[in-house]
Amino acid sequence: MTKKTPVDFNIVSEVIKASPVDNVGHASIRELVRIVNEIEARSGEKFVRMEMGVPGLSPAEVGIRAEMEALEKGVASKYPMIEGVKELKEEISRFVKLFMNIEVSPAACIPTVGSMMGGMATFMTANRTDHHKEGTLFLDPGFPVQKQQCKVLGHNYESFDLYDFRGDKLGPKLESYLKTGKISSILYSNPNNPSWICLNDEELRVIGEMANKYDVIVIEDLAYFGMDFRQDFSVPGEPPYQPSAANYAKLYILLISSSKAFSYAGQRVGMMVISDKLFNRRYPELKRFYSSDLFGYSMIYGALYCLSAGTGHSAQYALAAMLKAANNGEFNFVEVVREYGEKAKIMKKIFTDAGFKIVYDTDIDEPIADGFYFTISYPGFSGVQLLTELLYYGISAISLDITGSTRSEGLRACVSQVSRDQFDDLRIRTKKFNEDHPVS
Ligand SMILES: Cc1ncc(COP(=O)(O)O)c(C=O)c1O
Repeated sequence: MTKKTPVDFNIVSEVIKASPVDNVGHASIRELVRIVNEIEARSGEKFVRMEMGVPGLSPAEVGIRAEMEALEKGVASKYPMIEGVKELKEEISRFVKLFMNIEVSPAACIPTVGSMMGGMATFMTANRTDHHKEGTLFLDPGFPVQKQQCKVLGHNYESFDLYDFRGDKLGPKLESYLKTGKISSILYSNPNNPSWICLNDEELRVIGEMANKYDVIVIEDLAYFGMDFRQDFSVPGEPPYQPSAANYAKLYILLISSSKAFSYAGQRVGMMVISDKLFNRRYPELKRFYSSDLFGYSMIYGALYCLSAGTGHSAQYALAAMLKAANNGEFNFVEVVREYGEKAKIMKKIFTDAGFKIVYDTDIDEPIADGFYFTISYPGFSGVQLLTELLYYGISAISLDITGSTRSEGLRACVSQVSRDQFDDLRIRTKKFNEDHPVS
């Protein structure tokens, strides 16, 4: 039966049917991108695209200029040092001091080919320090591809949905996993992709202290650095600072992406910051895989060497220049990305006005912040059904099912690619969805 939907019913049905994915609701982010591209091309309808976290802003000018200058100086023909160029290492060390108030020496600040690669190298090292330990504990919901990285490496992992264990419940829950002796590392993103939960300082203290107690490495993924816009983390050297378990944990790795904070996703450059204690720690069992028992040395001349032998030379100069400008207080990178929070506020209202619910809606006792992502559900629909149905209304998102969430009714919506001039379309389409699916 052909229905009247905002995007041609037959075209959407045909594209879904022709897709090699068993169930479109379970498609990975990149698979959905392909499906939506095809529906757009065939129907001529522009989607409200919320499936992929691509930065929707221009890259920082200071980065582009520095990268062009580096290329003109001829860096493209030279292999960069695997541990990174000196200027960048120094600016990363300054950055974490000025915006997080933590001390890490430049030697332990290393560029990576995005946090994606930073994660892979981290698993390759952190999960190989002790053969009794089997893998990573993920504080979910999370970024699905990180679990894929563990799988590819043959590592085990455990996970639980953080939302059910906030505040006082977090410590006992963490301990129930750590006391098995099988966990080598704990990974979470903060702010969280996809739920936009922001762990508070007390929770981060619990994570750090539990990790110390069980000699576990904390992997803190700061892909959305400074983006809890309820506080202003933008002034270098002054509180408030980006909250972090690094204030409490002895052994930690921070993955700081430049993709969203500096809108520099295309150049695939990110930062890995290893606590000095971990960087200099000896783990005899690392020698099963690497030539040295030193953690930092194994990371650089073992894992990172194998993966790509370093990070693109010119991109390192771009990142160094952006960080230098931020560190010197000449470039307010947080102010630039605040637009995401403002758009989220409007978009959440459009959805809730049309009968949708926000799935992850509180941070313990306060409303969840407005940021890069938010989560939605609709009465009577599973996430998978909702995702599929919304395609007929020209709206795309991803299912929370693929993120390790226990909220299988939900979808993750990303605000970045939606322009303000699409808000009217979004209003019309969600209203039509509501009329076609009345809530009793
Ligand atoms: C939580 C999280 N970690 C890591 C990444 C990857 O970052 P990068 O682009 O630096 O590889 C992303 C990107 O979306 C992310 O959301």
